[in-house]
Amino acid sequence: MEIKTIGVVGSGLMGAGIVEVCARSGYDVVVREINEELLQAGLDGIGASMDEAVKRGKIDVEARQTAWDRISGTTDLADLSSSDLVIEAITENMELKKEIFAELDRRCPSQSILASNTSSLSITEIASATRRPEQIIGLHFFNPAPVMPLLEIVRALLTSEEVLDVAQRFGASVGKTTVVAKDTPGFIVNLLLIPFLLDAVRAYENGMATREDIDTGIRLGLNHPMGPLTLLDFVGLDTTLFVADAMYAEYKDARYAVPPLLRRMVMAGRLGRKSGAGVYDYS
Ligand code: 3HC
Repeated sequence: MEIKTIGVVGSGLMGAGIVEVCARSGYDVVVREINEELLQAGLDGIGASMDEAVKRGKIDVEARQTAWDRISGTTDLADLSSSDLVIEAITENMELKKEIFAELDRRCPSQSILASNTSSLSITEIASATRRPEQIIGLHFFNPAPVMPLLEIVRALLTSEEVLDVAQRFGASVGKTTVVAKDTPGFIVNLLLIPFLLDAVRAYENGMATREDIDTGIRLGLNHPMGPLTLLDFVGLDTTLFVADAMYAEYKDARYAVPPLLRRMVMAGRLGRKSGAGVYDYS
């Protein structure tokens, strides 16, 4: 099983980052969005991110152009049918994901591997929408994908040993360190990250310290690049809420119970950096 061409479904924050990672590592990538406007926004984001990488001396102008030339965009899922590996990075909606996987299963050759970048949904359930459950795997990238060095590989109940092996080699080929998790809610990283973020909101909600001091305490006391409330804004309050609710639904453990303030901030549209305001104001 050799991977040469990659399809990415979705060009939002994570999809765009995954496209960039793959193209910069020498793969031909086709990215699919649901309409031209979103596709253009995704491609613009990839271009801007690669410009930033050039500015920071991570790649030279020539490498940026070569990577850019490997990327093509489409609004037709059929254009991903010759991909050796498809990575889905759409919104966290199980029904939508199942529809995409069922269609990819019909269109892609039987040896193609179909992966999801989900951070909270069951890979085993996604696989149940296909006739190739042994070829389905989780490839969970971290935001910002071109910068973060980890790829969390999620092995579903029926994922084959061979597909796991290909996924590990793929991770190494795009410069990531891989870890392998079983298909349980939150996998490894979110299992520990989500209670941490929720506890930070609880501390802020209870008024035990200012948001700035909670962040500074963790940033300087534990040497984290961002404090938890800044990280919450970075990840997105809506995303964190969704992941926490999904984990609570399975574990029924108070560690994953969403504090009222977080739910209300999402209701109020304070989603974090992407909406201009979350715990902090970015306007
Ligand atoms: N392109 C290339 N490289 C970049 C870059 C870009 N656009 N932006 C930053 N970098 C590089 C810098 O050059 C630097 O590399 P170096 O150490 O080799 O010099 C490194 O990234 C750090 O950059 P800076 O020190 O300038 O700090 P920044 O403020 O720019 O870093 C950050 C930004 C990388 C986002 C950093 O703040 C960070 O690591 N934050 C934590 C992010 C995190 O935890 N992400 C995971 C979220 S959880 C998730 O995604 C899972 C989901 O399921 C919820």
